[in-house]
Parts: sequence; C-alpha cells; structure tokens
Amino acid sequence: MQRTCVIYESKYGSTAGIAGAIALVLGPARTCRPEEFSSDMRSFDLFVIGTPIYNGNVAPAIRRFVETNASWLRKKPVAFFCTCINLHKGHEYLKELREMVGGDAPAVAFGGRMEVGRLDRDDLTALTLYAKKTDFVLEDRDLTDMGAVTAFALALRERMACGGQMAEAAIKTAVEDYLKANHICVLATGHDDRVRATTVDYLFENGKIYIYSEGGEKFAHLLRSPAVALAVYTEYTTMEDIAGLQVEGRAEILRPGAAGHAEALALRNIDPDRLRAANVDLNVIRITPEKAEFLNAAFKRQGHAMKQTLRY
Ligand SMILES: Cc1cc2nc3c(=O)[nH]c(=O)nc-3n(C[C@H](O)[C@H](O)[C@H](O)COP(=O)(O)O)c2cc1C
Repeated sequence: MQRTCVIYESKYGSTAGIAGAIALVLGPARTCRPEEFSSDMRSFDLFVIGTPIYNGNVAPAIRRFVETNASWLRKKPVAFFCTCINLHKGHEYLKELREMVGGDAPAVAFGGRMEVGRLDRDDLTALTLYAKKTDFVLEDRDLTDMGAVTAFALALRERMACGGQMAEAAIKTAVEDYLKANHICVLATGHDDRVRATTVDYLFENGKIYIYSEGGEKFAHLLRSPAVALAVYTEYTTMEDIAGLQVEGRAEILRPGAAGHAEALALRNIDPDRLRAANVDLNVIRITPEKAEFLNAAFKRQGHAMKQTLRY
C-alpha cells in the first residue's frame, strides 16, 4: 500500500482541516506539521504539502521545510495546496514552492476561512490596515469547498494507483469471473442525503448485473437517482486470501412489459406464466457497470498491485 504524508501549517485551523480531509481520502496516511517531521518519514510514497497564505506569502515554516528538504523531495511525488481568500492568486502563491522541487508538482488553491473575532492582535491590525488601503472588506469568510478538496485528493490517489496495474483485459476477466462465481451482493442506492445498503441476490450476464425484486425501499432511491454501487466479497480469513469487489454503475428499472424485462427473466429461467400465477409483479434492476475496484490478494501473488481499477 502506498503511504501519504501530509505536511501542513495552520494558525486558525482551516488548513489543518483540509490536510486532515486529504489524508482521509489518500490513506494510509498521516498528517504532521514541519517540526514534527522526522527523517524516517522520507520513506512515504507521496508528500502533500499545504500552507495558508498570510499577507501574500506561504507560511514561513512551510517555505523553510521545502527549502531544506528540496533535494530528496525532487525525487518523490509531491503535491501542493494552499488555503486563501483571494483564489485568483492561488497558483501564484504556490509558484515558489513548486519551483523548489522541480516545477511540475500538482498544485491547487482552496478557499480558506477567516473569522474576524478569532484573529490575534497582530493579524487584526495588519488586516485592518490592508482593508483601509485597498477595497478588501474585513469580514468573516468561509470559502471552504470540500468538493474541490476531495476531487484533488481523488485525482492524486488515481495518479498513485497507476503502479502495478494489470492489463485492462486481465482486470476485466478477473472482475467478471468473480461476479460470476458469486451471487450475493450488497447494493447501495441513495439520493440527496439518504443512502441504503441492501443485501440481494444477483446474476451477472452479458456484462450487466441483474437483480430481481418484487419491490421495496431501494426503489424509492432508484426512482430518483440511477447511481448505484455494489460490493461483493469473500469472507475474511487472512490478508493472504482477502478479496472484495466494488462496482459503481447506473441502474435501470425494468417493470413487467418494459423492453428487456422478458429477456432478463429468461436469463434466470423464470417462467412468465408461473409468475403471472403468483399475482404480483417481479421487477428487474439492470445495472451497467462504470467502474470496478477489485482488491484481491491473488493479484499481489502474481506480482501486481493488490488493488486493480477498471473503468468501462
Ligand atoms: C493575517 C492574515 C493575512 C492573510 N493574507 C491573505 C492574503 O494575502 N491572501 C489571501 O488570499 N488570503 C489571506 N488570508 C486568508 C487566509 O489565507 C485564510 O484565512 C486561510 O484559510 C487561513 O488558514 P488557517 O486557518 O489554516 O490559518 C490572510 C489571513 C490572515 C489571518
């Protein structure tokens, strides 16, 4: 597993919060301030360095850290972020740090947070003076955008995951074999702020996942959002046998009479006449996979990364 070290400075907490969020998405990870960094932490695989912007500058402790450690940081994957109020200047603020480690490290400016009542005397004086001289209005601001933060972390995660990937066709076969070898999954459906995880029986055929259901609460979500995820896993014994597959995709509801409904029943050898006698509708959820993430110890034994990702 690739490990990430998030090094940050933060006087009022917003950069610390974002550093923590990035560590959560990129984990296994740890966060630390520059003074907590020790040389054994150089063995981490990715370094994300975050700084607030004060008076047009990156935090001095972060500048010192990058300056002092530039020689080995240049040889490692590094990414930078800053938190600030003037987002237009975000990239400019980070330019000097990027140049110290070679210039092409990913860098992003996130909206920061400022609570006037929490500023210490020096900061309040500096910002009051600045506001008098410019059109800057000194007031509470919260430009935090957790969507932008998680998108950055996910993009870094994807970059790091490239090593040890199997050929696309081999991942696809492994995913399909696993889906065929199993028949129970946990199906996640949701909309707005509600989610539901339902254990269901499924059938994998012709690249699609079929779930047969008389009805239930999952349809309250599916009617409002076709986005689904499902998990299939092997009961855990040891790390040497671990296997679990997660599939994200789009679901269609096939009501009786809808195109594809009869074919879906036939895949499962369900007799429509017997069904009619049962006197209730049998609906089909047909899922088209969009992304599969397969964690399988067997991949590691074959010399690949334990986790393989496939986009359809
Ligand atoms: C004294 C002071 C100076 C600041 N100067 C700038 C600035 O030059 N440009 C900017 O975009 N934001 C500026 N900000 C806003 C901060 O970058 C923002 O509030 C940041 O999220 C603070 O991070 P922290 O909560 O981790 O300390 C300043 C904030 C303070 C308190």
